[in-house]
Amino acid sequence: MSATHQIAVIPGDGIGPEVTDEAMKIVDAAAETFGFNYETQSYGFGGDMYLATGDVLPDSAVEEFRSFNAIFLGAIGHPDVAPGILEKGILLKIRFDLDQYINLRPIKLYPGVPCPLADKGPEEIDFVVVRENTEGIYSGAGGIQYKGTPQEVSTQIHVTTRFGVERAVRYAFELARKRDKMKQLHLVAKTNVLTFVHDTWQRAFDEVGEADYPDIQREYAHVDAACMWFVKNPEWFDVVVTDNQLGDIITDLGAVIQGGMGVAASGNLNPEGVSMFEPIHGSAPRYTGQGKINPIAAIAAAGMMLDHLGEAKAASAVEGAVASVLAGGKIADLGAGRMGMSTSEAGNLIAAEVRRAGKG
Ligand code: IPM
Ligand code: MN
Repeated sequence: MSATHQIAVIPGDGIGPEVTDEAMKIVDAAAETFGFNYETQSYGFGGDMYLATGDVLPDSAVEEFRSFNAIFLGAIGHPDVAPGILEKGILLKIRFDLDQYINLRPIKLYPGVPCPLADKGPEEIDFVVVRENTEGIYSGAGGIQYKGTPQEVSTQIHVTTRFGVERAVRYAFELARKRDKMKQLHLVAKTNVLTFVHDTWQRAFDEVGEADYPDIQREYAHVDAACMWFVKNPEWFDVVVTDNQLGDIITDLGAVIQGGMGVAASGNLNPEGVSMFEPIHGSAPRYTGQGKINPIAAIAAAGMMLDHLGEAKAASAVEGAVASVLAGGKIADLGAGRMGMSTSEAGNLIAAEVRRAGKG
């Protein structure tokens, strides 16, 4: 019997706890069906804790996270907390302190899921964005001088290191090779304007590709053009690698073409350390506690987590269960309050499919 997977769980704010419950229900069904052991420890970090105690996320908690095999996060964001405090203090802090340098975001349209693009279907929409996750303009470098005066000056520095870029690019090349689909990697950047930081990206991309990945076709798209092509020709993409902020933006566009925030999942990966899995959606505070929110994105994130934990069969059963429930049309609409069932009923349906996969 393999070791027990230790999972830290941060349900977070708003609808985070509801979707986390369903994601854990699926992990449980998978464990029972595929015969692995896991233990969870829940952490109450989020807006409510901050408002009650002033604590966002102490360093000691991050140190504790290092002893887990994975972290699952529901959602962060609270209407009574100023923007940036929880996002930077929890989400970005975990990503940076645990050096989760890859943000992996699959853009996959499952059959049966309504797509806003006319004439595009699951055949055309199946690619992965590799977002660099520890640098760029999100690094926190910069500041405001003479704040509140007419002389106010603010800077936000786009920190780019050859080391950081190269490891992201290598991960993306490896992924393109492993997917074995088009054997193609797009760099998305803005080399015509960001002639310093994106020049570092372009050279790392070309040098690494030429030296070590001659089997992978290299493509380049400016980010503005890539936004157009994600909509017009999503079938042109296999694996995309990009910087932190551009990755943040283009993956919301990606989420929309794969059917919306109800299905979009992500992994913050440190391939040599502790990784964290989360739905891409936020905490949707107005739906809190109503059992109306769609748990599929969180469940898909749990599936990615199982894959990362080495439970490949369980992970593919979860993906298959999500796909079959979506294809079956039982969930009328992926939007909050429009599923035609409650959050936990949707989780139950998917859990039943996971169990069925184990028998078949
Ligand atoms: C995301 C979110 C975060 C990000 C915010 C909440 C800090 O938008 O995971 O995409 O920008 O990375
Ligand atoms: Mn985002």
